[in-house]
Amino acid sequence: MRTQFLRSSGRHQEPVRPLDVTDLDPDPLSQLRLWLEEAERVCPLAQAMTLATATRDAAPSARIVLLHAIDDRGCESRLAAWSSPQSRSLPDRDALDRLYARAAELFAGEDVPLPPFWGGYRVLPETVELWAHRENRLHDRIRYSLAGREWRRERLAP
Ligand SMILES: Cc1cc2nc3c(=O)[nH]c(=O)nc-3n(C[C@H](O)[C@H](O)[C@H](O)COP(=O)(O)O)c2cc1C
Repeated sequence: MRTQFLRSSGRHQEPVRPLDVTDLDPDPLSQLRLWLEEAERVCPLAQAMTLATATRDAAPSARIVLLHAIDDRGCESRLAAWSSPQSRSLPDRDALDRLYARAAELFAGEDVPLPPFWGGYRVLPETVELWAHRENRLHDRIRYSLAGREWRRERLAP
């Protein structure tokens, strides 16, 4: 799977120094963890990402999901998974709140199990691109590619 991440400190605040290949950790996921920690300090839900997939006949779909580096889903999101009939039509907000309250009552005082219909994607990257915002769209774009068990790093034109 191909993955891309952009680091930006804001449109008008570009870092003083361009990002070089050797500034980055040799392991892209370690580097990504650092960027995420940095982003989480200033941006709520910094781990939200778009996951795109395609069917065999090439129909694409994309949805926003939360990236969990390790499986650390809390009770709250498990309760939400039990109570939300995801993507179905709801009459109003109250209906959703009632479903949540019912799930909370059902699992009160115990560990909330994973719903059997719960699914997740395990992303196994073959290439990882880390982009750092620079002015005039001249971003620093570094691509990591897996060569056997080693990550190769190179700069690409943005
Ligand atoms: C910030 C954010 C994070 C989300 N995280 C998840 C998630 O981790 N898992 C999930 O199933 N849905 C998550 N969703 C909801 C899905 O994006 C959304 O329900 C999904 O696209 C529905 O797709 P469908 O109606 O095409 O099946 C999230 C939505 C937002 C806005």
